[in-house]
Amino acid sequence: RPRVLSGIQPTADSFHLGNYLGAVRNWVTMQDTCDAYYMVVDLHAITAGHDAKVLRDRTRVSLAQLLAFGIDPTRSTLFIQSHVPEHAQLGWVLSCITGFGEASRMTQFKDKSAKQGAERSSVGLFTYPILQAADILLYQADAVPVGEDQRQHLELTRDLAQRFNHLFGKTFTLPEAYIPKATAKILDLQDPTAKMSKSSSSPTGLLEIMEDKARSAKKIKSAVTDTGREILFDPEDKPGVSNLLTIYSALSGRTIEDLVTAYAGKGYGDLKKDLAEVFVDFVTPIQAATREYLDDPAQLDKMLAIGAEKARAVASQTLAAVYDHVGFIPAK
Ligand code: TYM
Repeated sequence: RPRVLSGIQPTADSFHLGNYLGAVRNWVTMQDTCDAYYMVVDLHAITAGHDAKVLRDRTRVSLAQLLAFGIDPTRSTLFIQSHVPEHAQLGWVLSCITGFGEASRMTQFKDKSAKQGAERSSVGLFTYPILQAADILLYQADAVPVGEDQRQHLELTRDLAQRFNHLFGKTFTLPEAYIPKATAKILDLQDPTAKMSKSSSSPTGLLEIMEDKARSAKKIKSAVTDTGREILFDPEDKPGVSNLLTIYSALSGRTIEDLVTAYAGKGYGDLKKDLAEVFVDFVTPIQAATREYLDDPAQLDKMLAIGAEKARAVASQTLAAVYDHVGFIPAK
């Protein structure tokens, strides 16, 4: 069975719809066909400033949401990144074969450090994609289910794997990005030229899984749509309406063509009203299940201990091979 690995940051009180439709939805389906490793990447979550208590809470909420979405710890390995010290260890080795210029070209780093101010950005933010490469290569992953915004990090991961293999002998599997076609980039409801993101300028553009449902419905009803009145799928000229159709289709299982036919002659208001209902129906059971998982922290901890042990079994083997191949003498 192919091996898959992916990760998500615990940097908000809730995941947003882009996280689910771009990535986590595929995590859930891939559990059945793959040997799956999924983690909450708390090491990555401290690269841009954070509060310790908030991080603790968000890490738990993240895990609870993943379970609520259907990640099943008996069919996949679910763990917290910091429970497996090999991530940081391999990250160091990979940082030593990464070019400074190469790391400087990562667009997510450029965007985030431009926002924070280059002087104030941490070195951890700069080396973030190298740690991500370590996450993936430690598990010898064949495929990495992510949204479009992670494509460049996956390319760096492949480059580093290839370089290491060339320098020190075959050690790593070359991973492929697994990016969904229709939902690779869910757009901001208020600014459909930008991706939906927790750092977006307007909170009304963001659909959060755990937020008050009436508030989400309101956000959908006030989503920016395009000039004209017809409900058509045209991402170039009608990005707002097309984004709503993409979301509607993904959450309902109906095809875009089917939706376009069904809404012929109807208005944007009808589409938004119905989509608000579809969204609320989708998040209602997820919210309830998330709360249930949070209510039983002992059970969550037990599951995490098992996940960490399963993950370390794989990660430690890869790291041992890496240390040997680069010439470190083993501790006796
Ligand atoms: P993060 O936590 O920002 O996002 C988690 C996943 O959600 C996807 N995503 C989206 N997909 C579609 N439309 C959107 N608007 C949207 N916004 C976010 C992201 O592509 C991602 O798949 N660097 C990673 C975390 C990471 C990782 C890894 C991923 C660390 N190590 C190893 C894979 C493998 C990140 O910041 O994701």
